[in-house]
Amino acid sequence: MYNPTKVIAALRMGREEGEDIVSPIHVSVIYRFTKRLDKPSAEVKYGRENNPSVILLERALSIAENAKWCLAFNTGMAAINSLIMGVVEPGSKILASKLLYGSTRSLLDAYSSRLNLKVAYRGPPWDELLSSIDQASAVIVETIGNPTLRVPPLREIAKECRNSGCTLIVDNTFASPYLYQPLRLGEDVIVLESITKYIGGHNDVMGGVVCGLKEEDYERLWDIRRLHGTILQPLDAFLAARGLKTLHLRMRHMTATAARLAETLQQKQEEGIVARVYYPGLRSHPDHTVASDMLKHGYGAVVSFDVGSERRVREIMSRLNVIVPAPSLGGVESVISYPYESSHRNLPEEERLQLGITEGLLRLSVGLEDPEDIVNDILNALNTKTRLEP
Ligand SMILES: Cc1ncc(COP(=O)(O)O)c(C=O)c1O
Repeated sequence: MYNPTKVIAALRMGREEGEDIVSPIHVSVIYRFTKRLDKPSAEVKYGRENNPSVILLERALSIAENAKWCLAFNTGMAAINSLIMGVVEPGSKILASKLLYGSTRSLLDAYSSRLNLKVAYRGPPWDELLSSIDQASAVIVETIGNPTLRVPPLREIAKECRNSGCTLIVDNTFASPYLYQPLRLGEDVIVLESITKYIGGHNDVMGGVVCGLKEEDYERLWDIRRLHGTILQPLDAFLAARGLKTLHLRMRHMTATAARLAETLQQKQEEGIVARVYYPGLRSHPDHTVASDMLKHGYGAVVSFDVGSERRVREIMSRLNVIVPAPSLGGVESVISYPYESSHRNLPEEERLQLGITEGLLRLSVGLEDPEDIVNDILNALNTKTRLEP
């Protein structure tokens, strides 16, 4: 269970009289040599290796994620890249969900020839993924998959992985540690987040984090981060820490608004104004049962819906006043994006359609504006003269 008291306490510096309560931003790149420590990863001497502001954030994130260690990177993609370089052996077989973030898929595809990785995309449907695990050395999934918000049965996947000795990599970005902590599934799991989204939460900082339980993974990834030069920068660590302090409040509020919006949109589907709504909290969602079992504090703050055609997409986007047409998710501003042309444009057309990524699909990241204003903005934009084409 996510404990905000412990997370906030971990970010509080001062315990003695007169000490800082809020962590300073440590901008020094060099630090006075101390007695050599056994592990280079424990020393703070040079900014490309370690930084006190980053270490403080990593400790708090370890509590948030129920991890033994976390390592912060300058973007979510840097975190994913290091994870693949550090944990996956060249020549090995990777099994991944088809619904990965588009750039993660592009990265895996680029590496499949360079590192001779054998990458296979399976599921949803999740049986397809479960039945292929025995041949893989690593499995990569997202807790809530973008953009149709599919939720894989992570407990079953982790069990299969444990039985066949593979590592389960979970991109938990859409859930955040507030809604789900994949590391509770066992030692062989590694979790990553794009800090840029819910943890940062204000669309003003980029970052990524990888967290785990095995010490040897930590050492390998720390070394890769040092060599690639992809450590999170001190000001960004400060901003991420400030975001983390309010993660629980933002998630609670935004998931409640998202649930309300999803229900309103479902009514619009019944009235023939919307073709389909995707939200794991709706009974109509294919993973509703699995999601209800996993996500005890809400089903996330992203709602996707299909309005039938590209023409209606453009029309609706142009009529929005509160919600901003923009990429990304997880910030206080509600933003709407068009996955067919943005995050998933590189997928083959046949696969896009099989996954529900149609020309009419919109993805909305619900923010912190008044719930009434968000719902009314969508209703107003939908209420055009043009309805679904028969
Ligand atoms: C699920 C998911 N993982 C990873 C990333 C990459 O994160 P970043 O943009 O911080 O590199 C994104 C970005 O949109 C994402 O949506």
